[in-house]
Formats: sequence, C-alpha cells, structure tokens
Amino acid sequence: MAITSMTGDGRIPSVDVGVAGPELTVIVPTLNEEGNIAEVVDRLRHVLSGILWEVIFVDDDSRDRTRDVIRQIGATDHRIRLLHRIGRRGLSSACIEGIQASTAPYIAVMDADLQHDESILPQMLAAAKNDGQDLVIGSRYISGGGIDKDWDEGRAKASMLATRLGQFILKMNVADPMSGFFLMRRAAFDGAVRQLSAMGFKILVDVLASTKTPLKVREVPYTFRPRHAGESKLDSQVAWEYLMLLADKTIGQYLPVRFVLFSVVGLIGLAAHLTVLAISLHLGVKFVVAQGIATLIAMVGNFSLNNWFTYSDRRLRGWGYVKGLLSFSAVCGIGAVANLGIANFLFGTEQSSWWFAGIAGAAMSSVWNYAVSSVVTWKKK
Ligand code: GDD
Ligand code: MN
Repeated sequence: MAITSMTGDGRIPSVDVGVAGPELTVIVPTLNEEGNIAEVVDRLRHVLSGILWEVIFVDDDSRDRTRDVIRQIGATDHRIRLLHRIGRRGLSSACIEGIQASTAPYIAVMDADLQHDESILPQMLAAAKNDGQDLVIGSRYISGGGIDKDWDEGRAKASMLATRLGQFILKMNVADPMSGFFLMRRAAFDGAVRQLSAMGFKILVDVLASTKTPLKVREVPYTFRPRHAGESKLDSQVAWEYLMLLADKTIGQYLPVRFVLFSVVGLIGLAAHLTVLAISLHLGVKFVVAQGIATLIAMVGNFSLNNWFTYSDRRLRGWGYVKGLLSFSAVCGIGAVANLGIANFLFGTEQSSWWFAGIAGAAMSSVWNYAVSSVVTWKKK
C-alpha cells in the first residue's frame, strides 16, 4: 500500500508501508503430499475467513510435485508460503524452522494429510487470544475427541503406550501430548526454543518438556480422521526417534544421548570381539588371524549398529555406507593408537595401576572415536 502526500516544495514522496502481517501462521510439514495441498489450502481459506492468516509449508525435499503445487497456488495468494529444506529430515525440526520463519503472534501446527480437523482452528485461536491460554492442543483423548475406526488395534495400542510414556516424562496432566495438532502463543514457543531437542516426530512433547515457565494449556477435542491422499511416514525409525527424544529430555541434560548409545554399542562390540576371538582360537585358528577376524567383525558390527541406532536420523545407505565404514574404521584406528599411547604412558608412571591405565586409555579413545566420527562419518548436512 503506497501512501503519498505533498511536501512543502511540491515533490510527492512515496513510502511503501506494506499491508498488515498475519495474526496466525499455520505450519504444515510436508513429505510427498502432492495430493493433499490444494485441499488443505481450500479448507484453511474456508475456516479461517475473517482472520489474518498464512500457511507455511515446510517441505523436506519431496520427490513428488508437492512444491510445484504449493508454488502454483502461492502465485495467486501471498498467504501461501513455502520453505524448502534440502539434506534434512524430521517433522519436529521442520516445524521449528517454519515457526522461526513466521512473524505472527500465534502459530498453529497441523499435518498435511487432513487427519487433523482444521475446523477447530478458530476455537483454538480464540482460547489463546481471548482466554489467555499459552498452548491449545487438538486432543483425541478427551471427551468429545476420538480416532477414526480405520486405525487398527495395533496402532491404537502403540499410540496409547507412547502417550503414557510421554505423560510419565512430562509429569504433566495432558491427555494427548503426542498430538501433532496444536496452537500456541509466540512467547510460549520462544520460552522453549533454545532447549528443544528437535528430534523425530513429536514436537509437542518437546515443547512441553522444554519450557522454562509453566504454560496455561487447554485441550480441545477433535476426531482424528483417515488420511486423505498419499502414505503415512510413520515407521520403526520414527518410533526409535521418539525414544531418543524421551531419553534426551531426561538424561540429556547430564550426558548426550548419542554418546551413551555410542558407548553401549562399543561395549557390545567388545563382547562380540572377545566371543569371535575365543571361538576362532578354539577352532585352532592362529592368534593373529583370529584377532584380525574378530577386529573386522567388531568394526563392521559397531559401524552398522551406530548407523542404525545412534545416527538413525543421518543413516548412510548404498555408497555412503561403504565410505562411512571406511572413514569409521580409520577414525577408530587412530583412536586405538591414542588408547595405547595414553594407557602405556599411565602404566609407566609410578602411581597408576594397570586397570586405571587400561580404563583411561579406553575412555580416551571412545571420546575421540565419538567426537571425530560424529563430524567425519555422520556429519550433519
Ligand atoms: N517436512 C517434513 N519432514 N514433513 C514430514 C516428515 C519429515 O521428515 N515426516 C512426516 N512429515 C509430514 C507428513 O507429510 C505429514 O504432513 C505430517 O508430517 C505427518 O506425517 P504422517 O506420516 O501423516 O504421520 P502420522 O499420521 O503417522 O502421525 C501424525 O499424527 C499423529 C497423531 O496426531 C503426526 O502428526 C504425529 O505427530 C501425530 O501425533
Ligand atoms: Mn498422518
């Protein structure tokens, strides 16, 4: 909007002051959701009429036409925005980046597949705006809410178990902390953002566990619908990342969860090494050969377990797997030399016992292996 007015000398300066920004930003994370975008936008336009809103789709490099569809709609409607992330994955971190890209005082998070009932958004906004709530959760597990009958019993049970675990960690009375559908005040997000783990799928659990100041929370019931188009992204990796998130929220403040996993994998590797060595020797294999086989097996085993569990979010595949195995072996090789150096040095000093020297060497090399492999083998993209 350009405002013009005459100045004393007759020139007409023009100042472009823009138009008012949104009051509500709806963050929608997407991964291959081309068949749902147009419907989501249509429904938001319908239910949010009369509200200054925008939607930010945060897309993790979908391989279908998701971004094309969003851009096409955005070309005639500036309220439709897109954040395209490359080389990263994760529902939570996508939502966080979307929220950080918005200037609105109220933010909602909603899935793209229409499982969340967008028609309660105005009610959620009113609860925050007029009723002073910091966080309003779309809830399946309070009276009036529910889950579509399409959900098989297994999934419903798993969801209940995950919910109980979440509630236990949060020590809060929230019926549906696993909900991916909620609305909050910007200040509520800002009070948690620096503590967020940003791991996996469960952004709401993360926010609830990370907030420094107590939040006024209300739940609004809705029925979780069947997916509109496309496929669910929930898999074993998502379930594992949820457990990592809970661990990070509890022990994470004392010890990084990845380091704990890395160490556990290291101990398993040691056990595997000794077992293979014992069996080989028993079968009459020469010691050097037996030790070689045991080392190889332990190395490949350690690498694979870490690749699967410790770095599930940066998992290497195909060629990346082979290159990762080589760099991991090189890093651990140097770690072993450092281990020997330290242990030998300590053993040589008067005050040290053999076990202290042994543990110190092993501890030194685990820290080295962990620190260096995290930036060399499983580097963040
Ligand atoms: N950007 C991005 N990156 N989006 C993702 C990713 C990702 O790595 N993984 C999934 N999404 C998007 C999907 O495109 C979809 O819009 C939304 O996140 C949810 O994914 P679904 O695959 O449909 O998950 P779900 O139905 O099993 O679980 C959802 O519903 C639960 C119940 O409310 C999630 O929203 C859960 O957080 C929620 O608790
Ligand atoms: Mn879904």
